[in-house]
Amino acid sequence: MDGNGRWAKKRWLPRVAGHKQGVEALRRTVRACMERGVQVLTVFAFSTENWNRPAEEVSGLMELLAMALSREVPSLRQSGVRLYFPGDRASLSARVAQGVRAAEQETALNHKLLLNVCFNYGGRWDIVHAARTLAERGEPITEASLSKATALSAVGDPDLLIRTGGEKRISNFLLWQLAYTELHFTDCLWPDFDEAELDMAFAEFAGRERRFGLTSEQVEATEGAESVLGQSHA
Ligand code: IPE
Ligand code: MG
Repeated sequence: MDGNGRWAKKRWLPRVAGHKQGVEALRRTVRACMERGVQVLTVFAFSTENWNRPAEEVSGLMELLAMALSREVPSLRQSGVRLYFPGDRASLSARVAQGVRAAEQETALNHKLLLNVCFNYGGRWDIVHAARTLAERGEPITEASLSKATALSAVGDPDLLIRTGGEKRISNFLLWQLAYTELHFTDCLWPDFDEAELDMAFAEFAGRERRFGLTSEQVEATEGAESVLGQSHA
């Protein structure tokens, strides 16, 4: 969800005002995804590197998460959203950690949309944490066992990644999970993201041929990329 700071700067507003508007964009996007039948939405809210931002912005983001949780969780629960917060919780304040735990517990029985809010998350952290978990348990390290130990093991790898804000990079998001994900980059700043932007991303995705390492002919010979994925995972 990139571009909050630039959105604010263009309006001579403090960066935190951009982040606030970013929460609105997320609310819109969750609703639009539910209307379109999306079952899992994973967003990058705060990276392990974001701690290095000015202290005022970091505390503003923490405050915003706590506020958004207390304001949004009741309606998210009502509408069937399950919340999960992949990331390292050890360095979160007691208040934020408690809010995150409560949000997960209060929405644990929902299953319409799983909303993963990656917070204090990093792709490298995820891989190292998973490897460490396996080593501590004395388990062999395989692609399957490592996948299972990552923060998003409950769901399949993402089909589509949307990066807003014009940069064309991954910035330590889901490094392990993005192996075969389709990438969509848009100049739209996150606070401006809306249904039209989402539909453009979906339209581009629909036009892609997903080969998962196979040839185009092989993919055409099967019933479609989905069954190919199913086979390769079997
Ligand atoms: C992304 O927006 C949101 C967070 C990292 C929390 P930015 O804050 O990176 O916005 P820009 O890139 O400065 O515009
Ligand atoms: Mg940025």
